[in-house]
Amino acid sequence: MKALILSGGTGTRLRPLTYTSAKQLLPLANKPILFYIIEKVVKAGIMEIGIIVGDTHKEVKETVGDGGRWGAKISYIHQPRALGLAHAVKTAANFLGDSDFLMILGDNVFSMDLDIVIRNFYANKANTTILLHRVDNPSQYGVAVVKDGCLAEVIEKPKNYISDLIITGVYVFDKTIFPAIEQTDPSARGEYEITDAIRKQLEMGGKITYELIRGWWKDTGKLEDMLEANRLILDELESEYPITAFPGSLISGKVIIGENVTIKDSIIQGPAHIDQDTVIINSYIGPYSSLGKRVKIEECELDNCIILNDTRLTGINKRISKSLIGRNVSIRGGINRRPLINSFLVGDNSEINL
Ligand code: DAU
Repeated sequence: MKALILSGGTGTRLRPLTYTSAKQLLPLANKPILFYIIEKVVKAGIMEIGIIVGDTHKEVKETVGDGGRWGAKISYIHQPRALGLAHAVKTAANFLGDSDFLMILGDNVFSMDLDIVIRNFYANKANTTILLHRVDNPSQYGVAVVKDGCLAEVIEKPKNYISDLIITGVYVFDKTIFPAIEQTDPSARGEYEITDAIRKQLEMGGKITYELIRGWWKDTGKLEDMLEANRLILDELESEYPITAFPGSLISGKVIIGENVTIKDSIIQGPAHIDQDTVIINSYIGPYSSLGKRVKIEECELDNCIILNDTRLTGINKRISKSLIGRNVSIRGGINRRPLINSFLVGDNSEINL
């Protein structure tokens, strides 16, 4: 079996961050989302992996490499335009050949191992097996109706309620998905939907089985989902820090601290992840914070934050919470300066709540 990971497309809902970075490379607990997915694929025993890339292909290739670090072989397949998930599969036809394949969307994270889904596919001699999840707000996803262990109907982002079981973006396909894709027309949003191709496969007599998510699953498309995924992952990590003195500081809870981190006169309350070469002075870093490399925090309080590499926060007199702050950002507060003023150099589509 091969694997196909989809890392094309554009992350409109996470702009402005995704203007300069692939959404699949945004970090959770300081590791790119895509790495969690590759780890799941390799853990399921699949070593031949194709990654669909689009406009951000250079950055994805540079970050992920040839797969050697996971003992896998990674090939890149360029999809010139994001014309839909079914179009991505068609673009990968040469890479996939006649092989069965596991397909995963590059912006979803989950705790469950995937061997269960693959076992279901082979045990039931299915043409397709998909991973479903029960949610409260199904209308923004692909939705499935099931009967007797099999799929009875699937609709992409249905206007009317048909079921609370959503398609999570983990699929196992055999080669019969290709003729189904050939018969699929573009949807109202102009994309060749894999959900429509699966419905075609059903109409053509295909057998489609499913498994339900065990543990947690998150689509990381929006800010609050990224923060929630960061919390879920931090909760699962074990404390780890070098034997270094952190003068005048109190560190408690689960905290992971990288090499060459300076912490002075501060409180770190885990779960938190602090990457290498970061400096924290006279600050409070509260639960569910991930600070990237070479970050500098001075005279600040924060919690529930993802802060990317090389960002500097200084003298901010209100706690920063529930925030995702990009790379090389500088925010300076005006502590003890009169008059109190705010000065900004902020890019398009930014969001700042003062
Ligand atoms: O998150 C689960 C949902 O993902 C499913 O419930 C839906 O059935 C499925 O269609 C998909 O819906 P989205 O609208 O959320 O898909 P999105 O456009 O966000 O794309 C998902 C991933 O696939 C993302 O990492 C980008 C990549 N992609 C997307 C398109 C449209 C490609 O590589 N090529 C593409 O052409």
